[in-house]
Amino acid sequence: MGVDLDQVEKEVLDAQEVADDQGNNVRALKAAVKAGEATKAQLNEAIALLKKLKADLDVKRKAFDEAVGGGSKASSVNKEAFRQALQNVLLSRCFLINSFAIYGGVAGLFDYGPPGCAIKANIQSYWKRHFVLEENMLEVEASAVTPEPVLKASGHVERFTDFMVKDKVTGECHRADHLLEDKLKALLANPLEGGKRREIEDVLARLDELGAEELGTQIAKYECKAPETGNEISDPYPFNLMFATSIGPRGDTKGYLRPETAQGIFVNFPRLLNYNGMKLPFAAAQLGQSFRNEISPKQGILRVREFTQAEIEHFVDPDHKDHPKFAKVADLEMLLFSREKQVGAVKKPVLMRLGDALAQGILENETIAYFIGRVFTFMTAVGIDPNRMRFRQHLQHEMAHYACDCWDCEVECSYGWMECVGIADRSAFDLKCHAEASKKEMTAWIAYDKPKFVEELVVEPISKFIGKTFKKDAKTVTSALKTMTEENALGLKAALDAEGEASLKAFCGGGDFKITKEMVRIERETKKVSGKFITPGVIEPSFGIGRVLYCMLEHCYYVRQEEDAKEEDKKTVFRFTPLVAPTKVTVFPLLQREEFNAVCRKLCDSLIDSGLSTLMDVTGTTIGKRYARTDEIGVPFAVTVDHDTLQDNTATLRERDTTSQVRVGLEDLPGVVRDLVNMRTTWEEVQRRFPSQGGAEGGKEKGGAAGDYSLRCP
Ligand code: ATP
Ligand code: GLY
Repeated sequence: MGVDLDQVEKEVLDAQEVADDQGNNVRALKAAVKAGEATKAQLNEAIALLKKLKADLDVKRKAFDEAVGGGSKASSVNKEAFRQALQNVLLSRCFLINSFAIYGGVAGLFDYGPPGCAIKANIQSYWKRHFVLEENMLEVEASAVTPEPVLKASGHVERFTDFMVKDKVTGECHRADHLLEDKLKALLANPLEGGKRREIEDVLARLDELGAEELGTQIAKYECKAPETGNEISDPYPFNLMFATSIGPRGDTKGYLRPETAQGIFVNFPRLLNYNGMKLPFAAAQLGQSFRNEISPKQGILRVREFTQAEIEHFVDPDHKDHPKFAKVADLEMLLFSREKQVGAVKKPVLMRLGDALAQGILENETIAYFIGRVFTFMTAVGIDPNRMRFRQHLQHEMAHYACDCWDCEVECSYGWMECVGIADRSAFDLKCHAEASKKEMTAWIAYDKPKFVEELVVEPISKFIGKTFKKDAKTVTSALKTMTEENALGLKAALDAEGEASLKAFCGGGDFKITKEMVRIERETKKVSGKFITPGVIEPSFGIGRVLYCMLEHCYYVRQEEDAKEEDKKTVFRFTPLVAPTKVTVFPLLQREEFNAVCRKLCDSLIDSGLSTLMDVTGTTIGKRYARTDEIGVPFAVTVDHDTLQDNTATLRERDTTSQVRVGLEDLPGVVRDLVNMRTTWEEVQRRFPSQGGAEGGKEKGGAAGDYSLRCP
C-alpha cells in the first residue's frame, strides 16, 4: 500500500513541535531549579520526557526519509559513497583520466584510458551496427571547425545559451537552473508545511522551461546562494556555450568548434539526397566530437566540454511520418513520461506499449515512436537497466530553439535522472535556415501516388514580340511578367482585353513599358502535376556516448553478495554485457606449469585471431582469486586449462554472472565465445549444447538489486 506522504510529513512536524515545546520546558525548569523554584526531580522527569519525544521524532523522521526515497539524506549518503567507490575504480584502473592531470587538470575535460577506450569503441561500433547498418543510414564525417555563417543561420550564435549566475564576491560562475534545482531538492528532503511540497515540485517540474526573469524570481524566492561560499549571487543572464575560434592565419574568418554534429549533416543535405537517388525518407548519421563551454561541469563525464556525439538526422516528408518498420517495435514496453504527466498532480511516468502510446496520441507519429523503440533496444543491449530508463517529453518552453517536439531518453544514476539521448522533431527548421542563408536549394521532390490535375494561371511572355519592341529591356519585361502575382496578371489581362494595350508599371511597378496583347498569353489551364518540392522534416536521435557509457558503468557495478563472506572479502564486479566488455575472455592455466602455459598461449592466439580481446593470467594465486580479479574488471568469460585438457583437448568455460561452467573443446572455444559476444547465442543455449562442469563456486552468488546503492556500495 502506498504511503500517505502528507500524513507522514505532518506527523514529523507535529512531533517536532511537541519536542521543541518540551525543550523549552526543560530550559525553564533548569532556571527554576537554580532559583530554587523547582525541584531536581521535576527537572529529571522533564528531561526523561524530552528524550522519549526525541526518540519518537527520530522514528517519524526515518519514516519520512523512507517515504521520500531518492531525496532522503540516508539515500543520498549511499549514492555519494557508491559514486565515490565507482570513481575510485574508474580512476585507479585507468578507465578514465583527468585530462592534463600533470598540469593540475582542467574541469570538464577527461581522457579515456585503455579499458575506457575499449568500452567506448565497443559502444560506438554497436551504435553503427544497430543504426547505420541495420537501417541503411548514410554515414558522414564532417568538419568540427565550423565557419560562423553556418552557426548564425542555425540560430546557435544567437540562442545556444544557458543561464549563468556569478558569485558576487569571488566571481565564480554557476548554472542558474542547477543552483535552483539543488536548493529545491534539499528543501524537499525535509518535512514541509501546507502546500509547500507541491509548490516546490511544480517549480522543479518546470525548471527547464524557466526564462531568465522567472528563474531570477525563483532564485530570489528560495534564497539561493553561491555553493561553498554562501555568497550572494547575480541575476541570471544568458551565456553562449560555443568555443569561438578563427580560421586561417589572418584571423579574420570567425568560426566555432561545433556544439553538435548535426549541422555537418544539414549542410550536406543536397549531396546526400542526390546520393540517395533523390528519394525520401532517408537518414544520415555521424559520430564525432562536439564542444560546449559548459558553465560548471561538475558531474564527471556526464557534463564535459568536449564529448562524442552520435547523431542521426532522419529526413522525411512532414505529411507522411509513418514508418514501415514500426510494427517491429510496437510491442516494446517502456516508461513514458509525457508532458501532461509532468505537470499533472501525480508526476510519474507510465509503463506503456509503444503501440498504445501512439494509438492514444501520447506519441505524435510512427517515426518518432520507431526511433524511441530503437533507442530503447540499443540502450538495453549496451547494458542500461530498462527499469531505470524512461522517455521524458520536453515541456513546451523547454525545447531547444530548433525543436517542435522532443523526448529525452533519461537514465537513472547516482546523480538523478540524466538525459543520455535526445529524440527531437526538428521539423524543417534547419534546412529552411540554411536554404535562406546560403541561397541553395534544400528541397526534395515528392511524387504523388497518382498525378493531380490542377487549374493554374499561366503567364507566357511571347519573346519574339517583346524582343523586337524592347530590345535591351526585353529581359526586364519578360522577368516582370513571369513574376507577377495572380491578381496583377488577371488585372493586366482585363486591361489588354479591354484596350488592346496596357502599361506594365500599373501592374508590377518598375519601368514604364507599354505592353500589347500579342506580347503575352494569360490563360487559365488545367495542368497535370505529378509531385511537389518540399523541405523535409527531420527527426533526430542525438546520443552522448560518454553519458551512455557512464550510466552503463553505474548499472553494471555491484558488490557480489557471497554467502558467509566477511565484509573485507566482498568482491566488486562489473557485469558488462559481452558486447561492450573491454576484454571478452581470460585464459588461465590451472597450475603454473609449462605444458599448461603452452596450451593457453595457443588458445589465446586463436581467440585473438577471432577478433576477441583476450587476457592470459599466469599468476600463481588460487583460481578463485583469479576469477575474482577478472570479474572486477568485467571480463564476461574465463577459460581454464587443466589436467583433462592435456588428455582430451577440452577446457572449462565460465560465465561471470552465474559463475556456472561448461566443458568445451579447444577448437570450438573461439567460435562459441565469438557468438556469445556478438549476441548470436546465449549462455543458456551454450549450457544446453555443452556438458556442465561443477565449478568451485556453484552459482551461490548474486548481484545487488537494481538501483540499491546501499547494497552495491563496497
Ligand atoms: P543538458 O540539458 O543535460 O545540458 P542538452 O539538452 O544540452 O543536455 P542536447 O543538446 O540535447 O543536450 O545534446 C544531445 C546529447 O548530447 C545529450 O543527450 C547528451 O547525451 C549529450 N551531451 C550534451 N551536452 C553534453 C555535455 N556537456 N557532456 C556530455 N554529453 C553531452
Ligand atoms: N543535435 C542536438 C544537440 O546536440 O543538441
